[in-house]
Amino acid sequence: MKRKILVTGGAGYIGSHTVVELQEAGFEVVIVDNLSNSYDSVLDNIKEITGIKPRFYHFDLTDAERTKDFFAEENDIAGVIHFAALKAVGESMQKSVLYYKNNIFSLLNVLEGMKMSGLDNLVFSSSCTVYGQPDTLPVTEQAPIKKAYSPYGHTKQIAEEIIQNVSSLDGLHAILLRYFNPIGAHPSAKIGELPLGVPNNLVPFITQTAIGIREELKVFGNDYDTPDGTAIRDYIHVVDLAKAHVVALRRMLENKQKEKLEVFNLGTGNGFSVLEVIQAFEKVSKQKLNYRIVGRRPGDTEKVWAATKLANEELGWKARKNLFEMMESAWNWELALKKRNS
Ligand code: NAD
Ligand code: WQD
Repeated sequence: MKRKILVTGGAGYIGSHTVVELQEAGFEVVIVDNLSNSYDSVLDNIKEITGIKPRFYHFDLTDAERTKDFFAEENDIAGVIHFAALKAVGESMQKSVLYYKNNIFSLLNVLEGMKMSGLDNLVFSSSCTVYGQPDTLPVTEQAPIKKAYSPYGHTKQIAEEIIQNVSSLDGLHAILLRYFNPIGAHPSAKIGELPLGVPNNLVPFITQTAIGIREELKVFGNDYDTPDGTAIRDYIHVVDLAKAHVVALRRMLENKQKEKLEVFNLGTGNGFSVLEVIQAFEKVSKQKLNYRIVGRRPGDTEKVWAATKLANEELGWKARKNLFEMMESAWNWELALKKRNS
């Protein structure tokens, strides 16, 4: 019998790619999502890739009673991957209470439901944002957690602490995955990132500019202490990231964890500047991008990339796809979206 996995936020960008990988690895998936940043059409798109439409519950995980009912109904879940969260750094500065409420209440309700069901395997979406600007690079999992710049980043730090405490007091088994910068889309171009409104993140802004939705890309700052002056990030293909969740889940289900609570960075270990990302895009799309250098974006980190030793050696996972493959899949997704909407 297939083991059943709850994927909260499974209609979203990283969630939908993870659902595909889980199904392809032989798991049964149940999604809970309130569609606050996604569409239920993604369920059909997943089916087009895997042949299986995941079961879907449409509700808000901040609703404690509804979440309890869900766990009572679905009483044979083997593990939970908790993606559901609001994630826009800029918006979180304007709507801080909403971010704390959404991201923390939903986590607490999931933890309560898991406890109620005697379920103790949790994979949690954390972020490299918890490190801020690290003192040493590449950043290891032991690097100090710096004061968060945004309420969004703070919710990830608080969530990590809550999970750590619940794990040490209550026996919860958990893996915290700290993602670096996920980009790109599934090679089928049937699922990808669907930013609502103007994208905050670099790569959707690049592809939307190239396709004519945005007039120009503003490059935020070229006076950083980096080789070309633009900021450096560790971009990781979303499919590589999705696969890491399957590996993490199996590790828990097969009782291979070394500690009840484990933390892994998920990145490639390579840093690329904004200009290098643009160049890679221009190469794969065979077109020039309209961009302009402007001032720095407040709160931006200068440079960060992951130490990947722990994920590679202990988790047994490694990112495989390079920057060109990331940019090519992002561009194919943008082209597919245009076709779909025309
Ligand atoms: P996303 O917005 O595409 O997906 C999140 C999903 O959660 C959406 O479908 C949304 O509708 C749902 N959701 C939000 N609040 C909910 C609630 N209260 N109840 C039910 N569903 C709810 O975002 P994503 O990029 O796929 O991110 C997934 C997770 O990874 C998030 O926790 C995010 O913070 C984390 N993360 C993302 C990035 C990134 O750059 N994309 C980087 C690091 C960490
Ligand atoms: C990448 C680089 C920008 C847009 C954010 C969150 C982080 C994590 C990932 C969730 C930076 C530059 C961007 C643009 C630009 N999310 N840029 N022009 O800032 O590394 O991280 O997403 O956890 O928490 O903060 O990603 O894609 O926004 O920016 O020049 O229009 O591109 O300055 O150097 P970031 P990003």
